[in-house]
Amino acid sequence: EVMKETFNISMMEKKLKSHFNLQDVVVVPGDSDEYPWVKKEMGRACVSLMKKKFSTEENIIAVTGGTSISAVAEMMAPNTELEKALFVPARGGLGEQVENQANTICAEMARKASGKYRLLHVPDQLSKESYSSLVEEPSVREILGLIRSAAMVVHGIGEARTMATRRQSSQELVDKLRDKNAVAEAFGYYFDQSGDIIHKVLTIGLQLEDLATIPYVVAVAGGSSKGHAIQAYMKQGPSEVLVTDEGAAKAILSEI
Ligand code: G3H
Repeated sequence: EVMKETFNISMMEKKLKSHFNLQDVVVVPGDSDEYPWVKKEMGRACVSLMKKKFSTEENIIAVTGGTSISAVAEMMAPNTELEKALFVPARGGLGEQVENQANTICAEMARKASGKYRLLHVPDQLSKESYSSLVEEPSVREILGLIRSAAMVVHGIGEARTMATRRQSSQELVDKLRDKNAVAEAFGYYFDQSGDIIHKVLTIGLQLEDLATIPYVVAVAGGSSKGHAIQAYMKQGPSEVLVTDEGAAKAILSEI
């Protein structure tokens, strides 16, 4: 039975890897929609990938918010290779509760790994005018430089409607996402089924185009309910690696 299970999992990893054309895919057993511990297993799997890929010369790791990346932080153990890492949040405020914010998770990861961190203090609601003046602030520019030179990015993928609701987005945005058939969300960008960007939250930090030059981009997302979101994001998303669970893997593979 154990052999069969291992076989199934590695078949799923292989199929997803070739379907999405990724460098690596890790599928952990179970469905995180049903069992919270499955999310922690994704976190554990992500930590071991991070350790494997980490280099002390290029030590900046940018992380997003969300419960999946929070599970990565939770599973991070002290005295790891990552104690030379400098953790930075990928983007500024997106409207999340404090425990789901990139800043919080970034600080937590650094604390657990005995690494260092820098934060990005940017309000959630930015007008174009405040955005333009904030990016010119020397302290903000310095952090932005660090973020853009990250060697590794670890991010979540959300289901569009779930994310818009969780972030208490305006009715205007909710309507726009519905009208344009938003399916996925990552980094504060919303994507439709083809992976085209249909909305972008105005905030400071990594822009999607910056990710093209970042060597190692890992997505952590699971649960059968995220099958469509993962599929949509992966059509054009710049991530090379996917850490997911059996629930999402089955949902995706049943449709391809
Ligand atoms: O950007 C994606 C979302 O942050 C995913 O959040 O990991 O809590 O589902 P989640």
